[in-house]
Amino acid sequence: MHSHSNGLRNLLSLFSYLVVSISLSLTNGSTEYHCYDSGNFTTNSAYDTNRFLILSSLSSHVTLDNGGFYSTSIGQDPEKVYAVALCRGDSPSNENCVNCITAASRDILTKCPNQKEAFIWGGGTPECLVHYADHLVFGNLDLPHGCIEYGGNLTEVLKSNLTEFDQIWEGLTDGLVKKVSMGSSRLKFATEEAVINALQTIYSLMQCTPDLSRSDCELCLRQCVDDWNCCLRTAGGNSERANCYFGWALYPFYSPRTKAPPPPSTDPPQIEAPPPSVSTDPLQVIPEATSSSSSSSLEHKLGSTKSAILKIDIDSLSQNEASITELYPR
Ligand SMILES: *[C@@H]1O[C@H](CO)[C@@H](O)[C@H](O)[C@H]1NC(C)=O
Ligand SMILES: *[C@@H]1O[C@H](CO)[C@@H](O)[C@H](O)[C@H]1NC(C)=O
Ligand SMILES: *[C@@H]1O[C@H](CO)[C@@H](O)[C@H](O)[C@H]1NC(C)=O
Repeated sequence: MHSHSNGLRNLLSLFSYLVVSISLSLTNGSTEYHCYDSGNFTTNSAYDTNRFLILSSLSSHVTLDNGGFYSTSIGQDPEKVYAVALCRGDSPSNENCVNCITAASRDILTKCPNQKEAFIWGGGTPECLVHYADHLVFGNLDLPHGCIEYGGNLTEVLKSNLTEFDQIWEGLTDGLVKKVSMGSSRLKFATEEAVINALQTIYSLMQCTPDLSRSDCELCLRQCVDDWNCCLRTAGGNSERANCYFGWALYPFYSPRTKAPPPPSTDPPQIEAPPPSVSTDPLQVIPEATSSSSSSSLEHKLGSTKSAILKIDIDSLSQNEASITELYPR
């Protein structure tokens, strides 16, 4: 079923390069993925096997003790496959993180059956990132490919003073971009809240893959903020890219991490060598206090807060067309 709205189309055409689809989805635990159109591999080729092996091995190496990030590669050129995995910084436990990477890795295999490169934010609540490619992913910023999810309309109260809402939203996101991009090479993650009035608070979460430089992380997050700040005054949303994540809502959708990461010097050396893994990108381990929100941890039923989610696949800069394909009102 397809429906088109001129109003929304005009609004969205402000983003010059979006492919838009609207579907019911959740800010937490939703699945967004992008299969790159940069090349396909043949079924049962060495690349196919290497992709399967690397995606199968990710979850056994990712651990929150290393910031929930893992980067590896397998095979020889031109059949070499590179991959990174990243758990969201508010992942409550190692088990949650590992299960998420397992599910997301499995999911991307079927969602992108023969693409040489793809990434996914999915796998559970909260989401985690799995990204594989036929080139080095570690430290490589990928801005053009991304997805956004629209989290419903503002309440009438907030609509009555949009200037105020904008100011608070911009102050919050600007501060968080700076904070997260100044994170360590182990973890670039933070959450922050801004009070709008006695009843309403904006909750916001940002993360970069920790392999990004400070300036690339900032660039990635600013792009995510720019996806929204011109015109889409919504009650929530998120932008997901291969290197960063930005989400906000008018309710606490994340739970603060309680477990502080251990100091690096006490980490026992890992002897266990993975059979399929050929090389592992080095990860500098720097201790850092995990940022946490002061808000109490609440699991919200998103359905009651959200009416419809607009999913936008920011496909490539060359695409000029924004088309709205499906709408499922709640
Ligand atoms: C890759 O395969 C998909 C179908 O799975 C196809 O739509 C796409 O055009 C192919 N891309 C290239 C670059 O061959
Ligand atoms: C909107 O909020 C701003 C900032 O708090 C305030 O200065 C302004 O007076 C408000 N406008 C209205 C119409 O209430
Ligand atoms: C959100 O706002 C748009 C534009 O005003 C309106 O068409 C739509 O029905 C609203 N959605 C809900 C669920 O209120």
